Amino acid sequence: MTVKTSFMLRHVEFQNRVFVASGTFGYGDEINDLVDPNKLGGIVTKSLSWKPRDGNPPRRIAETPSGMLNSIGLANIGVHTFIEKKLPFLRTLKTRIIVNIAASSVQEYCDVLALLERHDGIHGYEINVSCPNVKEGGLSFGTNVDRTREITERLRPLTEKPLIIKLTPNVTHMSEFARAVKDAGADAVSCINTLVGMAVDVRTRTPRLSTVTGGLSGPAIKPIALAKVFEVAKSVDIPIFGIGGITTADDAIEFLLVGACAVQVGTTNFVDPGASVRIAEGIAGYASSNGIDDVGKLVGSLKADVKASVLQTWL
Ligand SMILES: Cc1cc2nc3c(=O)[nH]c(=O)nc-3n(C[C@H](O)[C@H](O)[C@H](O)COP(=O)(O)O)c2cc1C
Repeated sequence: MTVKTSFMLRHVEFQNRVFVASGTFGYGDEINDLVDPNKLGGIVTKSLSWKPRDGNPPRRIAETPSGMLNSIGLANIGVHTFIEKKLPFLRTLKTRIIVNIAASSVQEYCDVLALLERHDGIHGYEINVSCPNVKEGGLSFGTNVDRTREITERLRPLTEKPLIIKLTPNVTHMSEFARAVKDAGADAVSCINTLVGMAVDVRTRTPRLSTVTGGLSGPAIKPIALAKVFEVAKSVDIPIFGIGGITTADDAIEFLLVGACAVQVGTTNFVDPGASVRIAEGIAGYASSNGIDDVGKLVGSLKADVKASVLQTWL
């Protein structure tokens, strides 16, 4: 059976629904001997800011049960070096390139996107709002619904390409943020970025990360990510990229069933760089063996008493 795997977002067609997540695949040019990026639906680049950033001092990675903590601190080469050194290679790929942008002011988000718009080879933007807002004392933009809406409103007129806002799960109701960015003109949301976490070395009685707390990712967060995607999908009509602990095709299918229109594979790339391609093939295989001719038909097809699951207390 031939299975349709592609989907459209705005006017851009993606060949399948599996992407690699920001910060876990570099700029797409580093692990080509381990995985064929042309088989992916898209590559989401490491977050780019206007100027290069060194990020936080070590130690900025710690392994945890079924996951990892990171406090990389948005270390990146800066948008100018990206355009000069990375974009020429990315243009040679068949897959779609989504550039992820991080900034410390609303104006910086606009400047980075406006500069990228002047160059070919970029198919869309993902906006990382889990960034310290310098003007508001370093609090994350993404935990303030008004700032998140403002960023979207300011960026929307600057591009005709898909504009995806990557939401932080470190808020009470992600759906409130999804609704705000939809109203402000976003084409999609990515759910979820990392969850705040911490680990302690009891021998030295010190935190395992130099920043004390960091972002938790990997299989440990998958049930939370699924519940967040489900919450957003039930309350806001906007395409969702499901992210969080995906390691297998079945994991990815879970996200599609609860309402994600596509998925991103993150931490798993560090363990097995070829996983995302196998996940894409596995989703098509699942559809075929279940007599489904379009992977899109899986999206939101969970059989559940939704009312009960959303409204009932479960403890
Ligand atoms: C080491 C590391 C670096 C990351 N860097 C970024 C980043 O620069 N921008 C961003 O939006 N998300 C970043 N993320 C978050 C991931 O893209 C993803 O949202 C998160 O890790 C959850 O997915 P996972 O459990 O599959 O890793 C990073 C994650 C990790 C583990």
